[in-house]
Amino acid sequence: MAMGGVQIPRTLLCVNVTQVAVLRTARGGERPDPVEAARICAKTGCNSVAIRLHTDRRHVQDRDVVAIRKAIPENGKFYVEMALTDEMMDIAKTVRPSRVTIVPEQKEDMTSQGGLDVRKNMAAIKKAVELLHDQDIQVSLFIEPDIETIDLSKECGADVVEFHTGAYSSAVEGTAIDREIDRIYRASAHAADIRIQINAGYGLNYGNVAPLLHARELLELNIGQAIISRADSVGLSTAVEEMMAILD
Ligand code: PXP
Repeated sequence: MAMGGVQIPRTLLCVNVTQVAVLRTARGGERPDPVEAARICAKTGCNSVAIRLHTDRRHVQDRDVVAIRKAIPENGKFYVEMALTDEMMDIAKTVRPSRVTIVPEQKEDMTSQGGLDVRKNMAAIKKAVELLHDQDIQVSLFIEPDIETIDLSKECGADVVEFHTGAYSSAVEGTAIDREIDRIYRASAHAADIRIQINAGYGLNYGNVAPLLHARELLELNIGQAIISRADSVGLSTAVEEMMAILD
């Protein structure tokens, strides 16, 4: 985007292909294939591809994560979202994604509900950050857009914070939407001030993403459900391109 002659980079897109595996689970079998989806997204030119590996493997399987790492070109960015367990850290060491996003996980969850409790897990997060950094893997923490949690994330050594935008995307009334947007703007400004990279995601779609593009220093948006659903009508490459055009 060019503004006043100054080239401003567009917000980057991370396509989350977890929902492809969710659809596969609905019928069992091999299709649709999240690995093929990841390959198409990477080829279409999004910045990165992400997938969520649950500890109970409810949708995404270990073989998906291994195959996506192989399918994405050497310099391509691949993020795996996982809970803070020893088993998950071992998988990260083996698969070596570009980045691990540490997410909270409750057993009965369908997907991530709310951000990570960084204060409660401080020691374990610091240990995981050290271990992942030793493997040259970046670490992101999926957190609420909250000032104290951002400070704690920085203290843990995280490279990135991904703001959970669930409260924003599920807000219905104008005042609630404004309140959530304001929370994200203030959190982004704070994260930029203390120099930690900011991403955001959850529940974002073609209709609600635009206001986030004004959040200071927000680098990358992680979007899954909306793009995978849109792919049903227009195909995956076009769905990715349409979202990239909005972010541009
Ligand atoms: N960010 C994280 C950490 C997630 O776990 C998910 C869902 O897998 C997303 C972003 C994408 O959310 P959605 O599918 O609602 O766009």
